[in-house]
Amino acid sequence: MTSVNEILKKALEIVIPSEEERRKAKKAEGELKRRLNNLLEKFNYIEYKFLGSYARDTWLKNNLEIDLFLLFPESVNEKEMEEIAIEIGKTIVDEYELRYAAHPYVHGKVLGVEVDVVPCYKLKRLEKIKSAVDRTPFHHEWLKDRIKGKENEVRLLKQFLKAGNLYGAEYKVRGFSGYLCELLIVFYGSFYELINNARKWSRKTVIDVSKGEVRKGKQFFVVDPVDPKRNVAANLSLDNLARFIERCRNFIEEPKIEFFVKTKVELPENDAIATEIESRNTAICIVEFEKPEIVEDNLYPQLERACKKIHEFLSRQKFMPLRSDYYANEKCYLMFECEIKEISRIEKRIGPPFEEENHVKTFLEKNKEYRHFIENGRYCVYVKRKHWKVEDAITDYINKNWKSLGKNVGEEIAKGFRLFTGKNILKEEIEDGLKRKLVEFLAMKF
Ligand code: CTP
Ligand code: MG
Ligand code: MN
Repeated sequence: MTSVNEILKKALEIVIPSEEERRKAKKAEGELKRRLNNLLEKFNYIEYKFLGSYARDTWLKNNLEIDLFLLFPESVNEKEMEEIAIEIGKTIVDEYELRYAAHPYVHGKVLGVEVDVVPCYKLKRLEKIKSAVDRTPFHHEWLKDRIKGKENEVRLLKQFLKAGNLYGAEYKVRGFSGYLCELLIVFYGSFYELINNARKWSRKTVIDVSKGEVRKGKQFFVVDPVDPKRNVAANLSLDNLARFIERCRNFIEEPKIEFFVKTKVELPENDAIATEIESRNTAICIVEFEKPEIVEDNLYPQLERACKKIHEFLSRQKFMPLRSDYYANEKCYLMFECEIKEISRIEKRIGPPFEEENHVKTFLEKNKEYRHFIENGRYCVYVKRKHWKVEDAITDYINKNWKSLGKNVGEEIAKGFRLFTGKNILKEEIEDGLKRKLVEFLAMKF
C-alpha cells in the first residue's frame, strides 16, 4: 500500500505549473503592464492590481488565467466605470470577448495567456461595498502573506476538487471557489489536515477563519475574514458538501492518485441502458428544447427551477417521482423518473369536515361527477383525472404553466419541445454528455 506522502508527491507533479508555464505567465504580465502603463497616462486616476490565483501563485498547472483588476475611485459612477474598463480591456488584450459577472468585463488573451480584466471600486473600508467584486482587493490583502509557503497545498486541494467536479462557485457547479480553497488551507495549514478534519464536518459546521475556531451554527458557513457577515461557501450546495466529505473519507481510507485525476469512465452500451430502463419499469421522460441565449449563471438556476416545478407537479398528481435533473449543452434537457407510469382515471378528493356547512356546499357545487361520501367526518368525492400518463401530464403542465418555468427557459419551452419516454430516449443519436448524465441519473453501475 502506498503512503499518503507518496501519493501527494505524485499529485504535486500534476498540479505545479512547469517553469515554462511560469515564464510564459511572467512575460504576459510584463506585456500587460507595458500596455497598461501607456494607456493609464490618459486615465491616471485608475490603478491596477493583479489579484486572484495568478497573483498569489496558487493557480493550477495548465489552468493559467491572469486576473487583472482596474480600481476606480468611488467618484466615478458605475456606468462610466464599466465603459472605461471595457475600453481599456479591449485595448490591452489581443483577442477579447465580453463576459458578465457583477459587471461586464473583458476576457481575452495576451501573448497566448488568458486574462480577465475586471473593474471594481477602490475602497478604504469594506462597509461601503457596492458589489461583490469590491471585496477582491481585500481578499488579496488578507491572503497574500498568510498563504505564503502553502501555495502547493492550495493546488492539491483545487485538483482534488476538480477531479470530483466540485471546483468552482458558479451555478453550474455550485462547488468551492478558489478563494474558499485558499481560506481552508490557511485555516487547516495543509491539504492533508483539511481533508482529515473535513471528515467530521456537518451541514451546520461554521468555520471562522479569523477567529481560528470551528463551531456549530444554522448552516455550513465559512466566515469571510474581511467581511464577517459573508459566507464564503454560500454557493456550495448541500449535496456537494456531502460529496466532498465522502471524497475526504474515501481518500483517507485508501489514498490513491485517482483522487487527483479526472477519469473518463467508459459508458455502458445503449442496449444495456435500454434493458435497464425496460426492466425497472418506471416512467422515464426527457424534455428537450432549444437553449436560450443567456449566460450560464442565469440559465442553470432557471433549469433547476423548471425541474423543481415539474417534479412538484408530478408529486401532487401522485406519479411518485423518484428523481429529476437537468442538462444543457447544445440543447437543454429536463429529465424525470416516476414510479407510476400510468395512474387510475379517477382520484379521490378530500373535502371539508361536516361541521363547516358553507364549505361543504361549495365543495359539492364544484364536484358533481360522482356521488359524495363521508369518511372520518369529512366530505369526499371522486373526480376524473385530466391525464393518466406521466408524459401527458408533463405536456399538459408545460403548455399551461410555461410561465412558471423561469423567464427565458419558460419562453423557450413555450416555443416548442420534444418529449422522449422510456427506451425511446435511445432511439435517436444521443450525445455523450447527455448519455453520461442519464446513466448517472439512473444510478446505474457499470
Ligand atoms: N472575480 C470577480 N468577478 C469576476 C472574476 C473574478 O469578482 N468576473 C474575483 C473573484 O471573486 C476572485 C478573483 O476575482 O476573488 C479571482 O477569480 P477567479 O479567477 O475566478 O478565481 P481564482 O481565485 O483566481 O482561482 P482560479 O485558480 O480558479 O483562477
Ligand atoms: Mg483566476
Ligand atoms: Mn478569473
